[in-house]
Amino acid sequence: METVVSGIRSTGNLHLGNYFGAVQNFLKMQHENHCFFFIADYHSLTTHPKPDDLHSNIRQVLAEYLACGIDPEVATVFIQSDVPEVTELYLLLNMNAYVGELERTASFKEKIRKQPDNINAGLLTYPVLMAADIIIHRANKVPVGKDQEQHLEMTRRFARRFNTMYGVNYFPEPDAYNFGRQLVKIPGLDGTGKMGKSEGNGIFLADTPEAIRKKVMRAVTDTGPTEPKQKMSEPVKNLFTIMDVVSDHSTVKHFKEQYADCSIRYGDLKKQLAEDIIRFTTPIRERINEIVADRKYLAGVVAKGAEKARASASQTIRDVREIIGYRPFA
Ligand code: TYM
Repeated sequence: METVVSGIRSTGNLHLGNYFGAVQNFLKMQHENHCFFFIADYHSLTTHPKPDDLHSNIRQVLAEYLACGIDPEVATVFIQSDVPEVTELYLLLNMNAYVGELERTASFKEKIRKQPDNINAGLLTYPVLMAADIIIHRANKVPVGKDQEQHLEMTRRFARRFNTMYGVNYFPEPDAYNFGRQLVKIPGLDGTGKMGKSEGNGIFLADTPEAIRKKVMRAVTDTGPTEPKQKMSEPVKNLFTIMDVVSDHSTVKHFKEQYADCSIRYGDLKKQLAEDIIRFTTPIRERINEIVADRKYLAGVVAKGAEKARASASQTIRDVREIIGYRPFA
């Protein structure tokens, strides 16, 4: 039995990238393993949400995750800020995290480029807080998408460094996990890069069918293949990547054959893709709306989750303080 930790920032709604990158794996693991699932609301503070929005964002994202099928009766589902022990571990790990290595992190470099007017220290130490989230439960598996690979590598490094520094074998070195397959990267509809929350290129699980049709029909393509078996351009490859996860195998095969013999019409491909996405998201969207309205249910889930998560986290903090050399005065 593995210990599994999975997290999502409470910044923005859940999109297909989140689902196929991280949630799907978690759903498969939750019944056989010791699973923790949480909403990373401390991490979301790097983007400076307004106080009035913070709570509603957390509630929405929690409801969306539960709507996907995360079962709070089997997994521990909690809000990061309900477990203050994580901030203590974050502080302790920060003492052994070096500014140079944090500055070299790809996600930090990208933030510097994208938001030069808000390069806060929370962004720099983001991977340390993420490592604390994971190792506080001494997890060994972390279901994530490809974009989190480097953060996981850093988590292993911080865990190893702690063990070496104190001559213990306390923290396991956790793996980014996708059932032995490559980590997933779901692309956006804009032709380049990955689907993201703030890139304006995403399809959200809560999107209405009309919104999905509109977004897919507007997706970037090219002028079409002109010779048999022509190499696909990035935007067209991206549409096929999304189709691979939402459509039947025979549908994908049909359009790939049409591409190969140059008879493909991107309008038909997009129509089919939009309908397949809608088929996939509709039951989830309906559950989101039910769950988000059920405040009593959500309150019960997070109260129970916080209690279980704190029991696990506080044991780790006790052990870590002892290892580091904090001793009682008695
Ligand atoms: P976040 O909120 O950006 O994304 C949550 C999860 O969704 C995956 N993901 C994707 N996978 C495939 N294709 C995409 N286009 C795509 N976009 C997002 C992410 O890889 C992630 O698994 N740092 C984390 C939150 C976090 C966390 C943790 C995760 C904080 N502490 C501890 C795991 C364990 C983040 O920003 O994820």
